[in-house]
Amino acid sequence: MAAASSATLKSSSVIDKCEWIKGQSLRQASAAFVRCHPTSPSALTVRASSYADELVKTAVKNNCIPPGRGILAMDESNATCGKRLASIGLENTEANRQAYRTLLVSAPGLGEYISGAILFEETLYQSTTDGKKMVDVLVEQNIVPGLVPLPGSNNESWCQGLDGLSSRTAAYYQQGARFAKWRTVVSIPNGPSALAVKEAAWGLARYAAISQDSGLVPIVEPEILLDGDHGIDRTFEVAQKHGYSGCRKQGQGHPAASSRLHLKLLHRRIPPAVPGIMFLSGGQSEVEATLNLNAMNQSPNPWHVSFSYARALQNTCLKTWGGRPENVKAAQDTLLVRAKANSLAQLGKYTGDGESEEAKKGMFVKGYVY
Ligand code: 13P
Repeated sequence: MAAASSATLKSSSVIDKCEWIKGQSLRQASAAFVRCHPTSPSALTVRASSYADELVKTAVKNNCIPPGRGILAMDESNATCGKRLASIGLENTEANRQAYRTLLVSAPGLGEYISGAILFEETLYQSTTDGKKMVDVLVEQNIVPGLVPLPGSNNESWCQGLDGLSSRTAAYYQQGARFAKWRTVVSIPNGPSALAVKEAAWGLARYAAISQDSGLVPIVEPEILLDGDHGIDRTFEVAQKHGYSGCRKQGQGHPAASSRLHLKLLHRRIPPAVPGIMFLSGGQSEVEATLNLNAMNQSPNPWHVSFSYARALQNTCLKTWGGRPENVKAAQDTLLVRAKANSLAQLGKYTGDGESEEAKKGMFVKGYVY
């Protein structure tokens, strides 16, 4: 993946480099706009271009956020995918990544519960083991393909890669992608410094504007890492101050308390006009992630509150597969079990009954890199 890396924030020179955008109008008029008011009274107005209608269709009507559906994040970088494959004794070869991702995208009936799939760039251009484009298989399943144009970065760090992003997003659109995701993280134990938070916000805003201009609905993914010994109240305080979401840490095992704080935060910070809010699983067990999502949907929300899970959808599936062709069907069945459980949780109807011990195992890894 071109120009994708992270770098540690060491000085304030980054802010100086970004100051030039204040007050400048980056796009010409059309529908669907986002307004930012960064630090000066002169507003930065960003408007979507010729894709405005299609963006709305993708985000709202064209399957991205219908009731009972969510997103399968299968966008692990090659390095991270390699760790997953190693956990079942497989080498990190393109053929093994292709076999695993073929299994995921072609699970029969997946589109009933999954509306979008986030791909790593390799998968966007890849065919299944039987020679069909992965993207076409997803579209046949009524799943909108999207991709991650860049990995995020951890601790006090920022995302790089805005340079040249517009030509990459234009190429991704041509290849069939209709949405994109950009994750940027802050770490409470390492700060978060005002500089890291501001950089994250600006990076996300500019990525979103560039994606929209290429016809990709931007998923804006700010994340507070789970790492640290602080309590849920400290996470809430940071999240509220900075408009982030993700205060699971000390709410683990207490879905009702955790969801109460999440909803309080979201109601205070997220306008109802935002169509959907998708949660990551972030290292929770499969069951815990589903229980937490279910708790969030016990009463009507102004937004579609759903999932964009990688680990909490794939863990049991990967282990069941174990790299053996004869296990593909069983692995796809377990993927469907998780997808259906999260679909029920999106509707607030998940009970947690009959879950396997494997699905209850936590997956938190300190300093996890996606
Ligand atoms: P996890 O569910 O493993 O945290 O990853 C989610 C993700 O990448 C969402 O885009």
